[in-house]
Amino acid sequence: MPLELVLRALHDPAADRQREPRQARLCRLLKEAILSGRLAPGTRLPGSRRLAEDYAMARNGVLFAYQQLLAEGFLEADRGGTRVGRLPFRRAAAEPSAPPPVSFLAQRARRLPAAARDESFLPFAPGVPDLNAFPWRAWAKVLQRAWSEVSARQVAYAEPGGEPELRRAVAAFLAARRGVACTPEQVFVVPGGQTALDACARLLADAGDTVWLEEPGYAPARNVMLAAGLRTVHVPVDEDGMAPGAALWRASPPRLVYVTPSHQYPLGSVLSLERRLDLLNRIGGGWLIEDDYDSDFNHARPGAPLPAIQGLRPDAPVIYVGTFSKLLYPGLRIAYLVVPRWAVREIGEALRALHRGGQAMEQRALARFIDGGQLTRHVRRMAPIYRERQAVLRTELRARFGGCEILGGQAGLHLVLRLPASLPDTALVEAALRRGVVARALSTYYAGPDGGNGLLLGYGMAAAERIPELVGRLAP
Ligand SMILES: Cc1ncc(COP(=O)(O)O)c(C=O)c1O
Repeated sequence: MPLELVLRALHDPAADRQREPRQARLCRLLKEAILSGRLAPGTRLPGSRRLAEDYAMARNGVLFAYQQLLAEGFLEADRGGTRVGRLPFRRAAAEPSAPPPVSFLAQRARRLPAAARDESFLPFAPGVPDLNAFPWRAWAKVLQRAWSEVSARQVAYAEPGGEPELRRAVAAFLAARRGVACTPEQVFVVPGGQTALDACARLLADAGDTVWLEEPGYAPARNVMLAAGLRTVHVPVDEDGMAPGAALWRASPPRLVYVTPSHQYPLGSVLSLERRLDLLNRIGGGWLIEDDYDSDFNHARPGAPLPAIQGLRPDAPVIYVGTFSKLLYPGLRIAYLVVPRWAVREIGEALRALHRGGQAMEQRALARFIDGGQLTRHVRRMAPIYRERQAVLRTELRARFGGCEILGGQAGLHLVLRLPASLPDTALVEAALRRGVVARALSTYYAGPDGGNGLLLGYGMAAAERIPELVGRLAP
């Protein structure tokens, strides 16, 4: 294409309307023409004086544009003036183009399943606390106080491992409420439980290593393991939690075992003491990842939640993972790992190499919220409210779904309703979503094809008085 055609666009009225300065426009037009091949390498450009006269531009503007494109490598200058550079800006037309890849994603990313839509603020979304009942004013106050004390250090990258006051507060909170035995140095604050699991997958195992996951289980945990290139083995769950037989220990010894022992996700069973000890005794050179995501709301034994595995043997290779998504709100993105004392230095250094910290103000506010007793008060206030919701939900499910089995409920924020094969869970979930409620299909929590059929129903966002009407929307 002749150069004049390219330069004619300098008088484009649309660009005039957008007030694009002439020199910027000249730069843009030349660059676009070079990259698209409309101006071939070696094409001579007019001298700056002539171009300025021909196109009613200031000469300085032309000089500026030329210098800019010279500096970027699009143009080159010689004794004869300025011309288009000779780099391969565009593949030659005759050259065969590369065959289109099957997928541009890496193999391991291709193994990831499509994620469910995340309308987690709607009623029955599992795993979401009551976001309307959180003491927002009290939270705003501690945040405000943190911001009123802001310093340059706090808005730069955060302290590796988290703000010291939050690490202290978490260690004390876990000792009191979860039987976790640790010092603040063993606590590493990370932006979300998902990030914690991702760090475990990438720092504690190599691609090709075996990870045991619960079947059914928490899909985001499975996703990070797949994305880290691990070999996933799905271990069935029964009423006593994950149930690996002796044969599996021999056939597929794990590098990582991921468990939700206090409240199996999603079925709700509690891992028995016998199985906890068995895991600890057999884990050997591997790691146990204890995901204690929602046991603060213990309904079976209110006020005395089942202690964590970590506390049974604090020096065992256990990574305890906790999150504030259920106690405060999911968008906060503050969670933590507790690592054994002997692993603090190495895991700390690896985490530091992998992540950069932030959210110091939220972390400091949260430390105050915990130290001031507001978090415990909030948990105490919400526990009976959630218990009541669960009871109403059970009653309504029994009334509407006859003899269907209801699982879980010892802790946490959801129940599982088993359905007969005549009521496929995915169809019910789709219909419910159209009516504004977010149940999850139990079948989607299974990695294997022979999954269960049922619904996961969170009661965190469902007020007791609305539950009868909401359950009505689940009906087929
Ligand atoms: C089983 C389980 N583990 C871990 C988490 C971690 O949550 P987050 O990434 O919000 O901290 C969740 C959240 O729903 C969960 O359900």
